[in-house]
Amino acid sequence: MADKEQTTDLQEKPFKPSSPSSKLDLNGFWEYADAPQSADFIELADQYELFIDGKFTKPASGNYFDTINPATEKPIAKIAEADEKDINKAVKAARKAYENTWSKISARERGKYIFRLARLIQERAREFAIIESMDGGKPIRESRDVDIPLAAAHFFYYAGWADKLNYAFPNKEVESLGVAGQIIPWNFPLLMLAWKIAPALATGNTVVLKPAETTSLTALKFAELCRDAGLPDGVVNIVTGAGETGAAIVNHDGIDKIAFTGSTEVGKIIMKSLAGSEKKYTLELGGKGPNIIFEDAPVDQAVEGIINAIFFNQGHVCCAGSRLLVQEGIANRVIQKLRDRMETLIVGDPLDKNTDIGAINSKQQFEKINEYLEIGVNEGADIHQSSCSIPENGYFCRPTLFTNVGQSNRIVKEEIFGPVLTIQTFRTAEEGIEKANNTPYGLAGGVWTDKGSKIFKTGQKIRSGVVWSNTYNQFDPTSPFGGYKESGMGREGGLHGLEPYVKLK
Ligand code: NAI
Ligand code: MG
Repeated sequence: MADKEQTTDLQEKPFKPSSPSSKLDLNGFWEYADAPQSADFIELADQYELFIDGKFTKPASGNYFDTINPATEKPIAKIAEADEKDINKAVKAARKAYENTWSKISARERGKYIFRLARLIQERAREFAIIESMDGGKPIRESRDVDIPLAAAHFFYYAGWADKLNYAFPNKEVESLGVAGQIIPWNFPLLMLAWKIAPALATGNTVVLKPAETTSLTALKFAELCRDAGLPDGVVNIVTGAGETGAAIVNHDGIDKIAFTGSTEVGKIIMKSLAGSEKKYTLELGGKGPNIIFEDAPVDQAVEGIINAIFFNQGHVCCAGSRLLVQEGIANRVIQKLRDRMETLIVGDPLDKNTDIGAINSKQQFEKINEYLEIGVNEGADIHQSSCSIPENGYFCRPTLFTNVGQSNRIVKEEIFGPVLTIQTFRTAEEGIEKANNTPYGLAGGVWTDKGSKIFKTGQKIRSGVVWSNTYNQFDPTSPFGGYKESGMGREGGLHGLEPYVKLK
């Protein structure tokens, strides 16, 4: 009875937005007041050193570079630039730690350290999330709800495997490799660090890791956690710098395994330099993910899924659903709904909790995206951007759709790595699958349909490492991830993610 009265009550008082003074006017219906995440308690140094052999160490060259906040274009701190000498020092420290401590202590003991790192990330999650958003431009909602919790989850997951490797590889003798050299990109800085470091440590290897030059801060904060966790010196070494520093890791003789995530271009360079060497390697490279919407799909959910697939993290996602393939009969309806939904997306301050799309990670990436917008228009495609306001300073890009495109358009073929979606239509499932596979990449894709059988039939025919159905961008530490074709080789995550770090006999 009481329930019924409440319902009636609610129906009689329709919700009215309460803040008419808010600066954002979203079709006059939803208005959001600012909801800034305070960064007052964040302590950042003016200058960061290399983390080698358990100590923060000045770079041999004495050179530093700025890391900037892409939402303001202002420098945040100076970061040390490691050269060959520093890499040599880091690799030696990692080797010494491998031989003297990390391979000597019991697997159970190693697991305890990794659990400790996981808990420390959780304890300092808020701080890590804010720094990630300041340094890389991603919305605080994402770094708070996705990046940092998932990074902790990867450490928890692999900590559990440390003393169970014989169960992971039954009837085999499992041996660690030695020193792993790891190079990561700027789109998910701490999460990519976790993907790399957690399985390496769990399998008994030591690590030299280089974060991307535009997002070094959370890796350096993680170095502080290694110190706080009492991790033996040299087990984790964090070296900062750009491409040359990365190349020095790839080419160092003292490294047993290279794990790289980044562009296909650099992946190919790394493959060439490793050809003929004994080093094992895994490469996780680019993508141009097809997101296929069938006529029988739940359209409203699919529209949310499309938005998530391409605008999540400013489209800085290797597995982004950047190519929408929609069945002809519902194309107009889907495009109209997408355009309406895009109007409500908030582009702006990454530290505002309402923000949907933050800042593009760097000036270089910002220019690359703008170049592709021009290429698309020059190729004769129809462009549509949301009409939202964007901040004057900083690198911001409105969510963008391209229609009237074909397979030969560069914007359809090449990875843009920004909030830019191309839309093509198809008539039959065969045509949709053919278009989906017509790419040198094969990292991830999506299928939206009401029919389970169609999910399986289509999913199996799409040549990519991950196919999500009726959802997109779902990640879990227990699930393997990796590409076909030019999207890379090897798998990370899950049980599969242990294998690249062990020798099996
Ligand atoms: P990148 O591949 O140059 O950078 C990734 C990492 O590799 C960074 O840590 C970088 O310092 C390092 N690196 C660069 N040159 C190297 C070399 N010769 N040897 C060893 N390490 C090297 O990617 P970039 O220039 O930042 O972005 C360019 C494009 O790559 C993006 O627009 C996007 O399309 C794609 N990309 C893909 C990513 C993915 O997750 N698959 C991540 C980042 C970029
Ligand atoms: Mg930065």
